[in-house]
Amino acid sequence: MACPTKVIQMDSADEIPCPTDDFKAYCLECGHCAAVCPTGAFSLDWLKSEQCPPIAKELVLSEQQTEQFLRSRRSIRNFKDKPVEREKLAKLLEIACYAPSAKNNQPWHWTVVADPVETRRLAGMVIEWMRSVMKQSPQQAELRGFSRVVSAWDAGEERICRGAPHIVVVHGDKNYGFGAEDSALALSYLELYAPAIGLGSCWGGYFYSAVNADPKLFEALRLPADHKAFGAVMVGYPKLKYQRLPLRNKPRVNYLS
Ligand SMILES: Cc1cc2nc3c(=O)[nH]c(=O)nc-3n(C[C@H](O)[C@H](O)[C@H](O)COP(=O)(O)O)c2cc1C
Repeated sequence: MACPTKVIQMDSADEIPCPTDDFKAYCLECGHCAAVCPTGAFSLDWLKSEQCPPIAKELVLSEQQTEQFLRSRRSIRNFKDKPVEREKLAKLLEIACYAPSAKNNQPWHWTVVADPVETRRLAGMVIEWMRSVMKQSPQQAELRGFSRVVSAWDAGEERICRGAPHIVVVHGDKNYGFGAEDSALALSYLELYAPAIGLGSCWGGYFYSAVNADPKLFEALRLPADHKAFGAVMVGYPKLKYQRLPLRNKPRVNYLS
């Protein structure tokens, strides 16, 4: 029942789950079969039950905890002058890769700017790109609010990566149809997990649009030529602590009956 592509059937004689003939062609490698098995008896060549840690009942969040956890995530725009340890960056990405993805494709590639000096240099490159757009397409630049960001930079305030020590870029095959959706979901997982290990994050919308528009920036990040940046988040230790949950719009919903 749990198999999304129905490539496991029950052997009618002894009720043993068996792969269908087309198993190899259609298995998504999502691991639901091993994860749902109540006794840990089910395994595949590439997935043994020992590799799938049990879900600890005592760690399941209550309704109240889940609500507060989701509502209290904030975009962080003020960072301490302290780089994040490599293990923590690696853990963020590990958790991000648990996000859902179309057909369990997990299409993500990651580029992490680990050196804060380089993050600042790349922010400067985004500003230079903005200046060129302001010259060549002033209307487009105005619509996208570039002049305020550039003026802030000139006055000594960095609004591209907000002084974060790191920027994490998620990228992949530029022609893959679900690249944007899968990447946004992975970054959401990253952002939700970050506070649990003391970190803060914020989408860098200007940053990844510039990466896709400016070949110099694309090259500076050493992205493969057939890739596209689908998103980016700044990451670091937050300077401010939030005390309250802000308001959000009520759902605009139409229930059909
Ligand atoms: C696609 C996208 C791009 C964004 N780009 C930026 C950005 O370039 N700079 C920034 O400070 N915040 C950026 N944000 C953060 C939003 O402004 C933020 O999510 C929104 O104001 C709600 O605040 P919250 O995340 O704290 O709930 C972006 C968010 C998304 C989803």
